[in-house]
Amino acid sequence: MHLTREEEALLDGEMGPTLQTAMELLTALGDIYGADSLVPIKSTQIAGVSYRTIGDAGLEWISDLNGKVVVPSILNPAGMDLERWREMGVDEEFAAHQIRIIEAYRRLGIRCECTCTPYHIDASLASYGDHLAWSESSAVSYANSVIGARTNREGGPSALAAALIGKTANYGYHLDENRAPGISVQVDCPLSGADYGALGYLAGAQVGSDVPMFRLRSKPADIELKALGAAMAASGAVALYHVEGITPESRSYHPPAETITIERVELDEVFEKNCVREVDLSALGCPHYSQEELESAARLLDGVKVEKEVWIFTSRQVRDASPDTVRKIEASGAKVFADTCMVVSPATDRFGCVLTDSGKALKYIPGMCGVGAALGSIRDCLKGRITTKSPGERRDEREGC
Ligand code: F3S
Repeated sequence: MHLTREEEALLDGEMGPTLQTAMELLTALGDIYGADSLVPIKSTQIAGVSYRTIGDAGLEWISDLNGKVVVPSILNPAGMDLERWREMGVDEEFAAHQIRIIEAYRRLGIRCECTCTPYHIDASLASYGDHLAWSESSAVSYANSVIGARTNREGGPSALAAALIGKTANYGYHLDENRAPGISVQVDCPLSGADYGALGYLAGAQVGSDVPMFRLRSKPADIELKALGAAMAASGAVALYHVEGITPESRSYHPPAETITIERVELDEVFEKNCVREVDLSALGCPHYSQEELESAARLLDGVKVEKEVWIFTSRQVRDASPDTVRKIEASGAKVFADTCMVVSPATDRFGCVLTDSGKALKYIPGMCGVGAALGSIRDCLKGRITTKSPGERRDEREGC
């Protein structure tokens, strides 16, 4: 890999051991994946924040680093709401460790806004054509596919190394040749709401790590694309997809001849197969809800008292920017938590079965939290129980939305 003289000096340790370690990590990745050089980046989004996932070893590693990031950098969700963790049932010991992790990142100059949807809070972090080093799989998918920026799915340490150096190795989705679609996905029915999570859940499992191009009858909103990409990144390893006529790079490509077709009946099966009657927590906001999604939850909860726990996850900025909306939601008994989510927080573990509107959470909750998960419409999740029993009823509900 070609390095500039300045990069060589960093690698030789002339600027200290932290930057040397960061350069060693970036050049090792570059060598493994055949990068020709490092490429300057606009921002980083760094995973490895929840004490549940990184433990004491991770905390120690971050605490030993000594330097400052040189590009805007933001954190992935932590293991708890940093203010309202007691309401989540998180214990004191976990909270103390979690706060130490956040402080260690803060000392490195990282913005401690813990979210997997940085694009909802600061549009300057990623624009079309920007190179990035983002970690969280749904954020990576959104950045590549909906924004048209360029990022591989970084691990926490490599994103942090990129933040300290301001560059990442130039391979994978940074290169034009890896951004072309390899398979078409034809969907012959109209879609809305949680259908996109179900579609992503099915399509990801079928296309693996390929780049799919969707041919849809409906015109998805950005929040629906967010749900589609998140589910595909969880059930498969899709980090970039195109939607014909919708996503910014789709115009550059013809749909590939190899095609898989997904039908309504298969989408309905995702709901039916993952349908249960006994739910003790509804968890929405995977990925973190936008202001618009919070507002629609508030409308659906108007005049309602929830019977079970209902938790909605979002970023701190979105929660703070929407005090009236949050008040309306919480008047129903539902809670709006920030900085964390149902998958990376240990608070989910005490429940028996979680109902979610997210294809990604459906995939991850059983493995990460050891509890059952079911997929429901947004309306059912907010009610805390599945009331739509048949595909026909779900269709009526969609049309009524
Ligand atoms: Fe975000 Fe947690 Fe889902 S990090 S994408 S809300 S699993």
